[in-house]
Formats: sequence, C-alpha cells, structure tokens
Amino acid sequence: MMLKGLFLALLLVSFLHVGHCSSPITDTRTPDTGDTEDGPETAETESEESCGTVSSRWVEPNIMQVSKMWNFNATAQELLRNLGESLADVDHWKNDPYEVVRYLHKWDMDPSDAEKHFRGMVEWRLQNDVDTFMERYREPPAVFHYFPLFMLEGFDKEGDPILVYRMGSFDAWGLYQQVGADIFLDASIFIRELISKRGNGMPPEFDWQQQYYEPKTGGERMLQFTGIVDLHGLSTRQFHPVLFGLLKEAAHIAQAYYPGLAKRLLFIRAPKIFRMGWSVAKHFYSEESMRLVNMITEDNYLEAFEEYMDVEVLPHVINPVNGKGKQMPGYMEKIKMEGGIISGTMEDQ
Ligand SMILES: *[C@@H]1O[C@H](CO)[C@@H](O)[C@H](O)[C@H]1NC(C)=O
Repeated sequence: MMLKGLFLALLLVSFLHVGHCSSPITDTRTPDTGDTEDGPETAETESEESCGTVSSRWVEPNIMQVSKMWNFNATAQELLRNLGESLADVDHWKNDPYEVVRYLHKWDMDPSDAEKHFRGMVEWRLQNDVDTFMERYREPPAVFHYFPLFMLEGFDKEGDPILVYRMGSFDAWGLYQQVGADIFLDASIFIRELISKRGNGMPPEFDWQQQYYEPKTGGERMLQFTGIVDLHGLSTRQFHPVLFGLLKEAAHIAQAYYPGLAKRLLFIRAPKIFRMGWSVAKHFYSEESMRLVNMITEDNYLEAFEEYMDVEVLPHVINPVNGKGKQMPGYMEKIKMEGGIISGTMEDQ
C-alpha cells in the first residue's frame, strides 16, 4: 500500500460552507434531526419551506449570529451586512450570511473581492448544474472507498469537525487508471459537496451537518474544520504528471468555489520525497491557503496534536497508541481508513 495521489490534496484546501435552502425541492427529504429550534437564527432552519428568500436569510439575527461565530468586531459585522446588501440581487441558496461570510474571511475582509468571488461561484454552480448534483449522482463506485478521506466521529477542542486525508495511503494513480478521468472528476464533485453542502436538496444520508453534527452541538452550525493530511507512505507513484494536472484543477476549484472551510491543515509524517512533489504542488495554492498549512515535522506528531484535539479521537491508523476514533456515521463509515493499492498495472514507477 504505497501509492497515493497527490491530487486530492486540493480537495482539502478549501472546503467551504454550508448551505441550506435553495434549489426548489419539495419532497420528503427534510432532515429531521438538525433543528435549531431555539437559536436566534430562525430564518435558516432545515426545511425547504423555511428557507425562503434571500432577504429572509439576511435578517439581523442571522447576521449577528454569524458575526458571533466568527468573532467579528463591529466593523467586520458592518462589512458583512453591507456585503449582504450588495448581493441582494443574487437569488441563490448560497446567498446566506452563513455562506457569504466565508468569502469575506477568505479574501481578507475585502468586500469587493468577496463579492466578485461569491458571484463567480454562483455562476459556476449554475453553469455546471452543481446544485442538483448530489440528488442526481447518488454515490461514487465502491472502489472510491479506498480513497481515505473522511471526517471523524469526534471533534477538535473547539468542537469543530476533523477531516482526515490520508494522502500517503491513497493510490490515486491506481484509482485513476481503473475508473478513468470522468468518473474520477465526478467523484471529486461528490466529495466536495459531501464535505460542504447542507440542506438544499442534499439527500439526508449525506447531510452530516444536519444529521450528525448539529444535533451534537445543540443546533450550532459548522464553522470550519481541522484538516489532517497524513503523508505516511507517499511514493513517487503519486507524482504522475496526470495527477498533478488533476491536482491543479482541483486546487483551483476548491479555492475559488469552496473557500473558507478549513481553519488549519496539519500535515504529518512527510517522507523526504514529499518535498519534491510539494515544490510543484505548492504553486497551485494561494497565499491564504498556504497560511493554513502547519507542517508538523516532529516524529512525535501526537504531541503536537494535543494543542488541537484530544488524540483519542484520532483513528488507530494515525494514533496507534490510544486512538479510538472512527469515521463519522453515514457515508464516511464506508471509507477504508487504511487506503491501499487499487491497481498495480500500467506504468507503475
Ligand atoms: C475589526 O475588524 C476589522 C476587520 O477584520 C479589522 O481590520 C480591524 O482592525 C478590527 N478593529 C479592531 C478595533 O480590532
């Protein structure tokens, strides 16, 4: 099991938002668990009916709640409110302070950059029919269970989710050879939506935010997550030019269309060879994305993790000492945390 694929790193670098109301879906998929009965943010609950219009999402209690979650001062809160006014014409479920705030955050509180990128993202979703993807697609072929990217059952010290990407154990090249580019790219959309989308036509079995996370936080919505990138096992097989091409594209998509989801990215167990790949891959990421990266070089990375989480929440594959963590219930449980070789044919290096 030593192959992997670099390209997915990109996926990680940006996960963004959350979302709710939006596409006009009116069936039974209203998730039940995630009710946020009491918070002030009544305008954005889980049911489609309550999703309502742009102006019903940009109500003052929601703006205040979001500002509080993000520790905004009065100036920042005003920037968010003004940005909402500038976007009033955008009739899309993502036009919601819980989503829009990620653009402000990602683009260093510059409202015009945030607005430009937000509008670009809406355009991209519409052009590519991304909003309905999760309902149309269902889930990737089972071979994607060997793509070890998953969220954990437990949370970090701030109560935020933890996303683990065992890049070193992922045979990206093998998977790519087996399924081909189209299936690979569709699965990438699935993964990005899985990580970020909330409500709005999200099938309940994939809607971990409302089905799992929010019931545990008393209705508080996901803010950002901690990402762990485990490079253990990385080899040159993952440095195939095709994979770098995919990585570049994925990095672009993640940063442009799914910004502000990760609060930090903890890289661990980098073999020497990692530097070679990283010298290329780092150019795919913006300065803001790079700021999230914390390369933990100590052999005892578990000690470094103590700052961010109780290390027992980590799975055994990362914390062999006392890791008890499992994947989050739902789709993530199907993922094989060990990863492993998928296909040993063609051009192995
Ligand atoms: C308030 O937040 C803004 C935007 O992040 C920042 O530029 C400013 O320095 C902050 N003001 C104070 C007084 O902390």
